[in-house]
Amino acid sequence: EQSLDLDARYASARAIAQEAARKGMAYYARREELIVEHKEGNLQDVVSAADQEIELFIRAELARLFPEDGLLGEEGGGADLGARCVWVIDPIDGTACFLNGLHNWCVSIGLLVDGEPVLGAIADPNHDELFHACRGRGAFVNETPLKVSEATHVGQGVMGTGTFHSKGKGNFIPFLEKLLAEGGMFFRNGSGALMTAYVAAGRLIGYHETHLKSWDCLAGVVMVKEAGGRINDFFRNDGLLHGNPYLVAAPGVYEQLARMIGPSLDGD
Ligand code: IPD
Ligand code: CA
Ligand code: CA
Ligand code: CA
Repeated sequence: EQSLDLDARYASARAIAQEAARKGMAYYARREELIVEHKEGNLQDVVSAADQEIELFIRAELARLFPEDGLLGEEGGGADLGARCVWVIDPIDGTACFLNGLHNWCVSIGLLVDGEPVLGAIADPNHDELFHACRGRGAFVNETPLKVSEATHVGQGVMGTGTFHSKGKGNFIPFLEKLLAEGGMFFRNGSGALMTAYVAAGRLIGYHETHLKSWDCLAGVVMVKEAGGRINDFFRNDGLLHGNPYLVAAPGVYEQLARMIGPSLDGD
């Protein structure tokens, strides 16, 4: 079996995410001039020239450094997905925030090795935070180690939530009702990658989205695991390509949350 330079990939993921986030800030400053399109006629599902150009930058850097690796990105689709290493990229997670001047967006770069999430970098330039993790080496924001919440009941903290105008949105209000009934409180900032990182950081006790895509969460999933958290069976049934319902949470509240979501969480 060929040896794998994980150190180089981890360092590159961080450096490229930071550089892409710097580029993102330049686009953000002139966001009103950017050309914006709607995907599949959905007014809420927007994509701008910034998303497309930043993804091209990330793909070009990764292809130059690791030409044998596969790539999957929200805007550019998949290439060489049978490769041992596959990069999963969201050039801007939180595009609606980005275009509306809300400071909740980030660049997310994750890596699968032999089908398993192994490392991730999430760069949030508005808050000078670089979240990163590599399997077996812990999770960090900048230099500070991350640890999930110690909550043992949903009433003890804030829960990240979200849905989109796509699959699963009918399950959203029923989940919120149960969360509120059990004394919980909800939060949505419009970036699934950042909310996942916030679970790793213990800022949120968990994060549930009725249907998420792999590029929204793959980098963050490594952080949550390294910080002591749990994730549902998100990659089942081609979750990498098509997405699935999603839950990450501190171990003390995971089961309580999974019960509230019900069988849709890990069903087909
Ligand atoms: C979206 C964000 C949002 C989530 C959506 C995602 P995008 O990603 O993560 O929080 O609710 O499901 O599509 O389109 O801004 O990269
Ligand atoms: Ca999008
Ligand atoms: Ca996204
Ligand atoms: Ca995106």
